[in-house]
Amino acid sequence: MKLAESMSRLGTETAFEVLVKARALEAKGRSIIHLEIGEPDFDTPRHIVEAAKEALDQGWTHYGPAQGLPELREVIARDVSESRHIQVGPEHVCVVPGGKPIMFYSMLALLDPGDEVIYPNPGFPIYESMIRFTGATPVPMPLEEDRGFTFDLNLFRDRLNSKTRMVVLNSPQNPTGGVIPCEEMADIANLLRQRDVMVLADEIYSRIYYGDKPPVSITAFPGMLEKTIILDGFSKTYAMTGWRLGYGVMPASLAALVSKLMVNSNSCTASFTQRAGIAAITGPQDGVTAMVEEFRRRRDAICKGLNEVPGFRCRVPGGAFYAMPNVTGTGMDSKELADFLLYEAGVSCLDGGCFGQYGKGFIRFSYANSMANLMEAVERIKKVSPRWTSRS
Ligand SMILES: Cc1ncc(COP(=O)(O)O)c(C=O)c1O
Repeated sequence: MKLAESMSRLGTETAFEVLVKARALEAKGRSIIHLEIGEPDFDTPRHIVEAAKEALDQGWTHYGPAQGLPELREVIARDVSESRHIQVGPEHVCVVPGGKPIMFYSMLALLDPGDEVIYPNPGFPIYESMIRFTGATPVPMPLEEDRGFTFDLNLFRDRLNSKTRMVVLNSPQNPTGGVIPCEEMADIANLLRQRDVMVLADEIYSRIYYGDKPPVSITAFPGMLEKTIILDGFSKTYAMTGWRLGYGVMPASLAALVSKLMVNSNSCTASFTQRAGIAAITGPQDGVTAMVEEFRRRRDAICKGLNEVPGFRCRVPGGAFYAMPNVTGTGMDSKELADFLLYEAGVSCLDGGCFGQYGKGFIRFSYANSMANLMEAVERIKKVSPRWTSRS
């Protein structure tokens, strides 16, 4: 079978591979604590599940418009306008199966071979995979631990040139939990305003933050709304990863093209899940508040625990549900260490290198697991730590 050349450029998400390794160990009777996968360990709030059931009973089981149900797009437009302090309408919204397709479709719609895309590194692996798949050139923007995992604006300025077609921003960020502060976002907007570039603003963790104020969206700065695709969805905020429901907010002309890509691929997003999406946004938000409060408790506890591990140094992240300690002090390569923790301590976590070259030397722990399991994981790691302290 001769494969398309473009397939050789398609990457993947290593988290799923690590999960397979961890499950294989479990099948042999090993006890494994899963801190590798990035999904809330909470149930989808009851009223959302009920809305989906009701929608099925009412016959929301047919094709719908490719761009998404107008009533859901209306609700999303209102919600996004309020939360980002912008003005958008349903014509700007594309509902798709999860947040990820917005990366896929917007890059397919906007990138040509030879274009450059600046993206965060370490970062969600699908950015680089999709940039390469389109034939464009990925230009990594190193995130710096001592800046709270944001980037150096001078380096960013240096990377901008006439070939730059797209800039990917992700705040709060996966894998570091970093949040881009308002002043820095203003500076980024100032650098991009006059340029012919589009921003892919991945705001999938926009509701999961621990500061006093919500993370700022680049769309809130003058002239940026017209240049931005907001990626958001229901997976993280409402613990709905398996429902596959997300959306993009973008200029109406681009929304029409993304809808065309939907027509050519999915036809539409499942109708009854979209009805549940309306219930999610318009219904009570106390489930989200409670989840974020619980994540905060866990964040504080796991960061404290990880900082007690010899050779680990863990910054306290401002958002999402990941802790990303620097593990260079162990003297071990981070990939080797992640494997060691899986096989020797029964703690499944991800080598920072899975998120790009600048993630090497770090390990990502997802704290979407119970407090008891997190504390047990820290204890297990401490217990095996003499194995690396004795080597250094
Ligand atoms: C930064 C980031 N963007 C997007 C996604 C994809 O979200 P979804 O499951 O809704 O496709 C994830 C999922 O882990 C993510 O971490």
